[in-house]
Amino acid sequence: MNDFLIALQESLANATFVQLVLSRPLQPEATTSKVTYRPVLLKAGSRIQATSTEGPRETHRNLTPDEVIADVSQQLGEHFGNANLFTAAADVALQQKPQGDWKITRRPPSKAPALSLPLHNRTKQYLIPDGVPCPFLIEIGVMTPDGKVRAAKYDKFRQVNRFLELVNDVLTELPADRTLRVVDFGCGKSYLTFALHHLLTVIHRRSVEIVGLDLKRDVIDHCSAVARKLNCAGLTFQVGNIADHQAPTDVDLTVSLHACDTATDAAIAQAVKWNTKVILCVPCCQHEFATKMSDTLLPALQQHGILKERFAALATDAIRAQALEVLGYRTQVVEFIDLEHTPKNLLIRAVQRVGETPQLAQLIQNYQRCKTDLGLGDIALEKFLEPSERQMLNGTFTNIKMT
Ligand SMILES: C[S@@+](CC[C@H](N)C(=O)[O-])C[C@H]1O[C@@H](n2cnc3c(N)ncnc32)[C@H](O)[C@@H]1O
Repeated sequence: MNDFLIALQESLANATFVQLVLSRPLQPEATTSKVTYRPVLLKAGSRIQATSTEGPRETHRNLTPDEVIADVSQQLGEHFGNANLFTAAADVALQQKPQGDWKITRRPPSKAPALSLPLHNRTKQYLIPDGVPCPFLIEIGVMTPDGKVRAAKYDKFRQVNRFLELVNDVLTELPADRTLRVVDFGCGKSYLTFALHHLLTVIHRRSVEIVGLDLKRDVIDHCSAVARKLNCAGLTFQVGNIADHQAPTDVDLTVSLHACDTATDAAIAQAVKWNTKVILCVPCCQHEFATKMSDTLLPALQQHGILKERFAALATDAIRAQALEVLGYRTQVVEFIDLEHTPKNLLIRAVQRVGETPQLAQLIQNYQRCKTDLGLGDIALEKFLEPSERQMLNGTFTNIKMT
């Protein structure tokens, strides 16, 4: 239990704490089924709010970090047998076994920090801090010329930083000794492309060749003008369709953020074809499966339009993630930003496996099973892939890429 309390203490101290849930009451007569702790911003400053759930009733207490530690260490073992801690760095689970001892497990983080409720020192943690002028954030109106983040733009400021954290986590997977080659598919107005350029060139001092690609001429002209104005070395923009884009050399990082519907599949297919080391996608408007799923599958889920739409979107991303696993990538699906800001909040982060031997047969079986269960035949992702990659997904080609 000590290790768990240390992890909790550290996350509170360095403002990476996202949420903690105590559950599985140990006393048969217990009325409180769980306690949830999350950061809140009060007039008095930042606190952790503990919400106790008793049937339909909830009661709240606002605690300082020290009070949280005291509260949790008293509750664990006496009142609750499970604890799930979510931090920006890891998910940590603690479970009391029947013999009374504790089992702790750690997994990669699955929840984004509570972006609208920063802890008092969270701003110090941002890769682009509030208060330090950043040219592209000034240009797009997120910061004032002296570097202060405008109140109305704070959500965008946090989104940019969250994206940079997700990229920052995988930088060690990219080549360290040469110019980094990046493509951003469906870059749109490109504030995240400029952010990426800032991270790589200003924060990490890397030389880059970043291409932002979009179908819209006016958007690309605008982004090109901003890049010239801000002197963004190595950042260029092109008009084009994702599926037709030819990369002149190997691409290290492929990004596709909110590219509509099957444009994300085209981006994934291009990235795989180029042997890209890291792929980051935030899918959007996943309509394809909603029209292709079997009508007889889970009728209760298909009866209501909104449920069907969300289910289809999740299924699409599950299939994409599983396909990437088969195609040689360690894949995670993580929260991009809080659900309260947008429902389009999942990011698929895929890192090419190096020197690992995956259970390929199992991965292919999972992929195929998912398609069969959903009653899917041809899907866009497979159409965009090369024939050999399609065969790999179908289990008829096993010369898997291992670099
Ligand atoms: C919702 S915007 C996202 C912009 C930006 N990536 C972001 O996250 O803020 C989607 C962009 O993808 C572009 N797009 C959609 N399909 C595309 C395709 N097949 N090829 C290139 N761009 C595409 C659209 O023109 C649009 O600008």
